[in-house]
Amino acid sequence: MDEAFREFLGAWPAYRETMALDDLRAREYARLDATGHVYLDYTGGGLYADSQVRAHAALLGSEVFGNPHSANPASQASTRLVERARRAVLDWFDADPGTHTVVFTANASAAIKLVGEAYPFGPEASLLLSYDNHNSVNGLREYACCRGASVDYAPLTMPDLRIDRAALLARLEARTDGPRLFAYPAQSNFSGVEHPLAFVEEARARGWHVLLDAAAFAPTNRLSLRQVPADFVSVSFYKMFGYPTGVGCLLARLSSLAVLRRPWFAGGTVNFATVHARRHLLAPREAGFEDGTVDYLGIPAVQIGLEHLGAVGLPVIKARVRCLAGYLLRELLAMRHDNGAPMCRIYGPVTTEARGGTITFNLYDPEGHLLDYRRVEELANEAGISLRTGCFCNPGAGETAEGITDEDVQAALDSGEDMSLPRFMQFIQHRGGRSAGALRVSLGIVSNFADAFRLLAFVRGLRDQSRLAIGEVTFDIRSCRVIRDGA
Ligand SMILES: Cc1ncc(COP(=O)(O)O)c(C=O)c1O
Repeated sequence: MDEAFREFLGAWPAYRETMALDDLRAREYARLDATGHVYLDYTGGGLYADSQVRAHAALLGSEVFGNPHSANPASQASTRLVERARRAVLDWFDADPGTHTVVFTANASAAIKLVGEAYPFGPEASLLLSYDNHNSVNGLREYACCRGASVDYAPLTMPDLRIDRAALLARLEARTDGPRLFAYPAQSNFSGVEHPLAFVEEARARGWHVLLDAAAFAPTNRLSLRQVPADFVSVSFYKMFGYPTGVGCLLARLSSLAVLRRPWFAGGTVNFATVHARRHLLAPREAGFEDGTVDYLGIPAVQIGLEHLGAVGLPVIKARVRCLAGYLLRELLAMRHDNGAPMCRIYGPVTTEARGGTITFNLYDPEGHLLDYRRVEELANEAGISLRTGCFCNPGAGETAEGITDEDVQAALDSGEDMSLPRFMQFIQHRGGRSAGALRVSLGIVSNFADAFRLLAFVRGLRDQSRLAIGEVTFDIRSCRVIRDGA
């Protein structure tokens, strides 16, 4: 590994500037090396530093915290910390508290849902999504369809899986007079593509509200709402700094929040509600959107996480992730079987230009047959490597990457079986040897060269192995469980 590391440093000299992250890993994330774990699922969930958990425990031990929304001392103590965290989130995202607010939610999905259920969709309204979207954004179309709004998708270019700018602008310019919502990810959780933040301005200039999904972008990039004037931004904090889980937020422009019409009210969201007259008055700003009791013990840990990320510095994390992603892309692409056949196909950009540290790929045997990624995952598990497989809740990017058409989907739906993702994958594989799923590795705050090296060593171990030799797993259609061939 030493020689490989020297070569790597020669190719990626900027990595030297990030060595502070190795000390950080030894000090704060020692569990990784103590257990020999290669963690490559930062887009699934970030990792927390030990000191975040200690600081949170100390905070909880320092006072008595009770349910907010009351005037007693325990309640006031919680309210103080929740409001401090809200202010810290606004500051982090460079948002003016006079024009923006933070609605705390359970996660990014819940933030997106708040917009979907309350956006004034109707027959005059339009929803525009990009093909590259997490299902939690795709789900917006159900609210739009139910209320008669038109729904359209902006396609991606091949092979880079970037939003097709000309096709997007054509859709943004198509005249509609009703309310218009455009939703896209700042960074793809499938391909790692960083989609242009300039689309926010371009869409707003054409009368669209923009929901920018920053869930996969925020862990390695700073987003300034002064520079990127999105109406709504969705975030999950565990993706940024690992702890706490169960807290996310909707960052919202106050004037855009005022456009939303909540379909219900709950405890905490009303200034006044009566049963007699069946009237209620929604609380203003974020209070009208935080249903019930917020996670008042977890939310203060968000401020601790932001302080940690701020102290480490996003530029250094980004620099390291870029070096390691560049190294992995180059090495994976270069891997060949003895007969010269490529081992790996990468979905999306193969350089570090305008992309983050999420790399999705499939592996093939010397005859060009797809290796079963579920079996590869099993083997990776045995090697102590945490990677991710499947479609990553982003069907549109995967369908574009593999050229899966409307006809394929229709044929699958017509095939008679109740459709599920595993069944669809099986169907697509039989229909032209394509894959409806893949392997994904993603880098983050304390990824290091050894992680990348061990992944490559693992992949190299599959060299010259036939699809049949590594084995396959298939799904039992009825139980939808993995079964081994012959079992
Ligand atoms: C781009 C993107 N958006 C939204 C989500 C949904 O986040 P959560 O599951 O935390 O709600 C994810 C999760 O992986 C994501 O990667």
